[in-house]
Amino acid sequence: MNHKIALVTGASSGIGLAICHELAQLKYNLLLVSNDEIGLNNAKIVLDTKYRLNCIVYCEDLSRQDAAKNIFDFCTKNNLDIEVLINNAGILVFSEIAFAKDTDVSKILQLHINTPTFLCNYFSKEMVKNKKGYILNVSSISAVMPYPFISLYGPSKTYMRYFTRALRTELNPHNVFVTCLMPGATATALYDPAKVNIQLAKKLRVMHTPEYVASCAMNSLFKNQALCISGIMNKLIIFIFPFIPNFIISLLYNYTSIFKKGEVSLS
Ligand SMILES: NC(=O)c1ccc[n+]([C@@H]2O[C@H](COP(=O)([O-])OP(=O)(O)OC[C@H]3O[C@@H](n4cnc5c(N)ncnc54)[C@H](OP(=O)(O)O)[C@@H]3O)[C@@H](O)[C@H]2O)c1
Repeated sequence: MNHKIALVTGASSGIGLAICHELAQLKYNLLLVSNDEIGLNNAKIVLDTKYRLNCIVYCEDLSRQDAAKNIFDFCTKNNLDIEVLINNAGILVFSEIAFAKDTDVSKILQLHINTPTFLCNYFSKEMVKNKKGYILNVSSISAVMPYPFISLYGPSKTYMRYFTRALRTELNPHNVFVTCLMPGATATALYDPAKVNIQLAKKLRVMHTPEYVASCAMNSLFKNQALCISGIMNKLIIFIFPFIPNFIISLLYNYTSIFKKGEVSLS
């Protein structure tokens, strides 16, 4: 296995898994990464059978400080030349900072900021040397919403949005394409089906399928587009939400139950 390899983080489910199917159709061999060994192996069986490709699984907790280095070392040791890097793994966390555990804060920042940044650092060096490469970083439409209760999630995705824009400018002259994906609500395991009526949301087109988002993302990446915002509704949200004044958010936060306050533990 020595050419056309794509590394996908968060490949065991949702948007990441759907991206793997898109890449497999483009004849990429795959390195699937997440911290769910069973989920990864199930994904491998389906992808291997459907597309007859080389598919390797690598189980790693991406919220660990040494995660990116471990993955890079694994690729070096096994002579895996990564042409496509998809930084997709993430978690949706609702919490107020004052009530969050420091270990949980660290976990989110590591997973959403440090690990993808170091993966870009390690793998872009190789892509520049090869004069070819593709990087997709997954942000979110909540990147434009610095709101309470997603005070860690939203701003961590804002970092990813702006980091990706700068990285793109640096890498484009080396023939490395860099795209930021900003999905809106997508029907994945990110949502608890006991709390969110996913079927209804899909019917009302408030939520997209991961397959739709993945297809938009791959289209944008291989066309070297800076940004991929899937769906008209999400494009509108990104335009309108930054104009909502903060006093309205404060009123909603302090005087309604729209935001559920308190401590949320990740473990
Ligand atoms: N769904 C949405 O509405 C939405 C909207 C905007 C942005 N996004 C972003 O899209 C990305 C993919 O999310 P999704 O909706 O597809 O959710 P998902 O189905 O829950 O997938 C998340 C993936 O990330 C992996 N992951 C989570 N924590 C990890 C960790 N500590 N170490 C290694 N892997 C980890 C998960 O693996 P395990 O199963 O092993 O934990 C899973 O493969 C995320 O970055 C999310 O923020 C999603």
